[in-house]
Amino acid sequence: MKDAIQKEISDLTRRITAAEKAYYREARPIISDTEFDRLFDRLKKLEEENPELRNVNSPTMRAGSDLVSDFPEKPHSLPVLSLDKCYNSDELTEWIKKLEEKNHGLEFTMEPKIDGAGIVLYYDNGSLQYALTRGSGYTGNDVTDNIRTIKSIPLQIGYKKKIAVRGEIFIKTEAFSNFNKKFDGAWANPRNLAAGALRRQKSTETAGYPLECLVYEGFTQDTPETHTEIIKLLYDEGFPVNSHFVLFSDNMKTPLPVPSARLLKFSEIKNSLEMFRAIRGKLPYEIDGLVIKLNNIAEREKLGYTQHHPRWAIAYKFESPLAETQLRAIEIQIGRGGRITPVAVLDPVKLSGSVISRATLHNQDYIDSLEVNTGDRVSLSKRGDVIPAVEEVTEKGSNSGAYQLPETCPACHSILIKDGAHLFCPSDKCSARELAALKYFVAKDQMNIDTLGGKTVEYLYQKGFIKNPADIYYFNYRQLENHEGFGEKKIENIIKAVEESKKRPFTQVLASLGIKDIGHKAEQLLAEKFTSIDEIISLAEQKKMEILTDIDGIGETIADSVIKFFSDPAALELIGRLKNAGLIFISGTRKQEGKFKGTTWVITGTFEKFRPRDLAAELIRSLGGEITSSVSSRTSYLLCGKDPGSKLKKAETLKVKIINEADFIRLTTQSRKNQDSGSNDS
Ligand code: IVH
Repeated sequence: MKDAIQKEISDLTRRITAAEKAYYREARPIISDTEFDRLFDRLKKLEEENPELRNVNSPTMRAGSDLVSDFPEKPHSLPVLSLDKCYNSDELTEWIKKLEEKNHGLEFTMEPKIDGAGIVLYYDNGSLQYALTRGSGYTGNDVTDNIRTIKSIPLQIGYKKKIAVRGEIFIKTEAFSNFNKKFDGAWANPRNLAAGALRRQKSTETAGYPLECLVYEGFTQDTPETHTEIIKLLYDEGFPVNSHFVLFSDNMKTPLPVPSARLLKFSEIKNSLEMFRAIRGKLPYEIDGLVIKLNNIAEREKLGYTQHHPRWAIAYKFESPLAETQLRAIEIQIGRGGRITPVAVLDPVKLSGSVISRATLHNQDYIDSLEVNTGDRVSLSKRGDVIPAVEEVTEKGSNSGAYQLPETCPACHSILIKDGAHLFCPSDKCSARELAALKYFVAKDQMNIDTLGGKTVEYLYQKGFIKNPADIYYFNYRQLENHEGFGEKKIENIIKAVEESKKRPFTQVLASLGIKDIGHKAEQLLAEKFTSIDEIISLAEQKKMEILTDIDGIGETIADSVIKFFSDPAALELIGRLKNAGLIFISGTRKQEGKFKGTTWVITGTFEKFRPRDLAAELIRSLGGEITSSVSSRTSYLLCGKDPGSKLKKAETLKVKIINEADFIRLTTQSRKNQDSGSNDS
């Protein structure tokens, strides 16, 4: 009985594997989706009923599991070296000439150099044993469960001996931009996203990313004669192999590894560089260069290896790195909300005109995705010419693996807590957080007290003179007369600037409070909607979320944050003291006059003249009207454009007055004319 079930499981596995190979590797389905689902469901059922017969590499395991992995380190069976580089055809010709001097008639191969995350897949007895990241080159992190979720990677193969397969995990350009759009452009490039996805702690999460794989090296005990043969073996075993494979040989009989591969004369290497440059932009994935390899394995072994790379291969990179430097240390920054940000301290290096000595490393995921540690050599980029970023590790230093963020806060030693991708110090008594809150309060975008620079604030905090923002308004700065670096003039300037800051408008004061998740747009909206801070406080007291979420542009996260902040006794005490010090907590920006005074508007659909729709909202506000996001009995008008949403139905049901674009234009031009001539009541 069990034997029969075992046989059925094996048969199903073989058929599903063949279907996956045809579909994912060759984009050539051999069975229908329904048939595939039927086989898959049957296999799943049999495995559920007979868990002892389930293979870890069953196709059903591709969905991943919810178990948390900490990616144990494992040794590589062979050192995972990187490639020597060249940046133009002369350098490449020079490299080839050097190899040719020793031996004539060599064959070379050329492959695209995929810009992804390196991986080594270890198979034995026809089954994927484990998959390791490149790591230090000698050990890597075990990411097998995550790798299983990538459908183009075969879990079971026909080749029964040991084989280690090197490849690249990547995300196609289009899939990257779609994915990134959903996450507000959080990822700098497809490589970072792919590397990050590969290191999700739960493989069910990795399964949600559009990861792909292409393999380019295989290491076996029965060494084939040529690289071309290795690629052929990989292709025949069902591995995804790059279709753009070129062999340069003057022996026109040399067999090719994949159907789409090309055989070119040795003299065409230089032309081929240009050919690849030309198709680069048309490829569905990002490549950062080409890899040129010696084809003959015995010749390869004769040439051997340096400590960092093989002498038989070279990367021809399309662009030279903007800058390369040494990563000296990683500093931990603690934000006012407790967020921990690792910052790379670099040997100063020039990067498009400015000298860079620091760059953010964002969080542990980002560090892991680069596998970066102190002492590594790194390349830098400056995307969009703004923020310098660590692109990749170009040479590993002596610290293996990725740098690990501390488990406790370096300032107050509280145990750090993970929230999303970031770690946080949970203690609001943390000195680093208090100091960050003070620096934030006086900074340009908030209270803009320019004479209280970072160093001065730090000094005053360390001396215990000011602990929280309100103290800035109560401290007697004359006490500093005998302190080094505080002359009469400096003290006068501080007092003047602090006094001056009391005139900042309500929006700026709101901003300086540093409410979590709130940006300048939300501050503006709050200051427009409410006439005073007391209104917001009483709303928080009564937990009236909906009044906040009704404001167009304020969602639940912000509303929740506002309610939390204004219900916190410490925040209320701070506000009380700031109020007593004379700061402005009354709105001056709310437009109360105008034709639409006292009316509440909802906008739906698209408009011809008002593109984006915010233009219509702005006009309504400028005429004293209020904008809310959903229709209710309190709504006065629904401004309705083309293709309206469900709001129109709701407005009709509630008998709210509906105004189209033409009527709206008529109404507003009329009222503007009246307003300009001083009348308000047309
Ligand atoms: S061959 C000893 N071939 O580029 C074999 N590498 O710095 C060396 N890469 O770490 C690798 N496409 O992650 C090779 N067709 C290709 C490649 C490739 C991308 C990556 C790989 C390697 C890095 C070189």
